[in-house]
Order: sequence, then structure tokens, then C-alpha cells
Amino acid sequence: MTKILMVCLGNICRSPLAEGILKSKVFDFKTTVDSAGTGGYHIGEKPDMRSIKIAKKNNIDITDQSARKFVIEDFDKFDFIYAMDNSNYEDIIGLARNENDKLKVKLILNEVFPDENLDVPDPYSGGDYGFKNVYKMLDEACEIIAKKINKNG
Ligand code: 4NP
Repeated sequence: MTKILMVCLGNICRSPLAEGILKSKVFDFKTTVDSAGTGGYHIGEKPDMRSIKIAKKNNIDITDQSARKFVIEDFDKFDFIYAMDNSNYEDIIGLARNENDKLKVKLILNEVFPDENLDVPDPYSGGDYGFKNVYKMLDEACEIIAKKINKNG
């Protein structure tokens, strides 16, 4: 019964991809995966076309997603909150009410490179290559997360 939340800034580029990729790798129907943004600029919008495109190329459909903002109640609803970069991480930690909330927040690339605190770079202002790169990083991280979930339920 693992509940995972992927968080970036806008919830239109990186975290929708992370949500879609992880969902495609997890086979336990009791696991839930969602995504949110620390900023509210794109609430209600579909993922960025470039994220939709790179996901589709990898046989993942993320077109049914709609951007929402991270809320305090997410600390109660989710077991693991994966931030895409250090800025997202600090923003979420800043909203934590207690130590237990803080312990749920992790940098997603620390799954691949433990303790290195690396960012999934924000691809919003760049071109398609940035999205390809982001996809690759998230695919690796989600593979590791999914293996743990598929093993432990
Ligand atoms: P995301 O990318 O955080 O990966 O969804 C961004 C999307 C929008 C903006 C920044 C980053 N923005 O400033 O509108």
C-alpha cells in the first residue's frame, strides 16, 4: 500500500513524467502514484507537449494528467514525496509541520546516486533534448523505486 507523490515546480514537465513512468513499472494495484507542483502557475493544465511527446515515444500516455499544487494534506496522504530538484525539496521541507513530514521528502536522483543531492534539471525553457535527458534520468530512478515496491508491496 505504498503511496508516492512526485513533485516539481510547475507539475507540467518533470513530475508528470515521473508519475507516468513509475505507474508503468509498478504492478501492485494497491500502490498509488500522483504528482504535484510547488508553484501554482499551471493549475488545471495538461502536461507540457514536450513531456507528452517523449512519454508517448516510450509507450506511456500522460495526457489524462492535470496540474495541481502541493498542499499540506499531501504529507498525510503520501508515504514518500520525491522532489525533482533541491529547490523543490527546500520548498516542500519549508511546509513540513514536523519531523515525520520531513522524513517523507526525498530527492528523486538520490535513488540512483545516493547522497549526491543531484537535480533533475528544469527543462521548461529549453528544447527537446532537455526532455529526453530528463526522461532518461527519471526512467533510471523510477526503475529503482519500482523494484523496491514490487518486492515489498
Ligand atoms: P516543471 O517545469 O517544474 O518540471 O513542471 C516547469 C514548468 C513551468 C515553469 C517552470 C518549470 N514555469 O515557470 O512556469
